[in-house]
Amino acid sequence: MDPRPRIAILGGTGKEGSGLALRWARAGFPIAIGSRNLERACLTAERLRPMAPAAELIGLLNTEAAAWGEVVVVAVPYEGHASILWDLRDLLARKLIIDVVVPLDPNNPRRYAPPPDGSATAEAQRILGPETPVVGAFHTISHLHLHDPDEIPECDVLVVGDHREAKARVITLAEAIGFTAYDAGPLSNAPIVEGLVAVLIGLNMRYKTRGAGIRITGIPKKG
Ligand SMILES: NC(=O)c1ccc[n+]([C@@H]2O[C@H](COP(=O)([O-])OP(=O)(O)OC[C@H]3O[C@@H](n4cnc5c(N)ncnc54)[C@H](OP(=O)(O)O)[C@@H]3O)[C@@H](O)[C@H]2O)c1
Repeated sequence: MDPRPRIAILGGTGKEGSGLALRWARAGFPIAIGSRNLERACLTAERLRPMAPAAELIGLLNTEAAAWGEVVVVAVPYEGHASILWDLRDLLARKLIIDVVVPLDPNNPRRYAPPPDGSATAEAQRILGPETPVVGAFHTISHLHLHDPDEIPECDVLVVGDHREAKARVITLAEAIGFTAYDAGPLSNAPIVEGLVAVLIGLNMRYKTRGAGIRITGIPKKG
């Protein structure tokens, strides 16, 4: 794969998706902001462009974005997760999928509400099938740490899934935007990683903060 693959972000108009788009665009990756509405996608791309003037940064409908991307990030609220994946299944086949979606109890975001598959990442892997590598990542990175491109992140990315090579590629993509990222194990660990978000939201509420995150210690840094 090209060291700077085209990255499409489904739900790229939202808080998390647009933050990731901004970071990757500034790192030189071609980016498509995906949306259900073309005007919203183009407006988001226009809003981000001054902060990444050298980047290829376009707005597309989610369908077009899914076809355009070599790497596709799923960044929609959990309510839309299964349906967008079923709709775009054929377009996503055999691409690298990064799923950032966290299913939380709509009445209490401090509570993880896993779907019958056990996690959103596992749901995506089932819907897309074994030939399409799905990697769960960035769940524990609040959008607040993405939108200031000069912020050096103090939180780490935990990467889960059953496709080893795909996880290595996602770790490289996370490192390209300033994060330390770790292979946090197989798909069966996805409920733990996604569930940490409920813990972080609880911490933010309890301690009246906004950007709680996770940092792994005890593992020597590379290089
Ligand atoms: N916010 C964070 O800090 C954070 C951190 C880590 C992970 N996440 C996860 O990232 C995902 C997105 O979070 P967010 O805070 O960015 O959400 P958001 O801003 O509310 O929504 C993201 C985008 O998804 C699209 N969307 C909304 N409902 C949809 C539906 N039913 N079907 C398809 N698309 C829909 C919307 O785009 P259009 O209307 O333009 O289509 C919206 O701009 C969530 O699953 C969340 O758990 C968020």
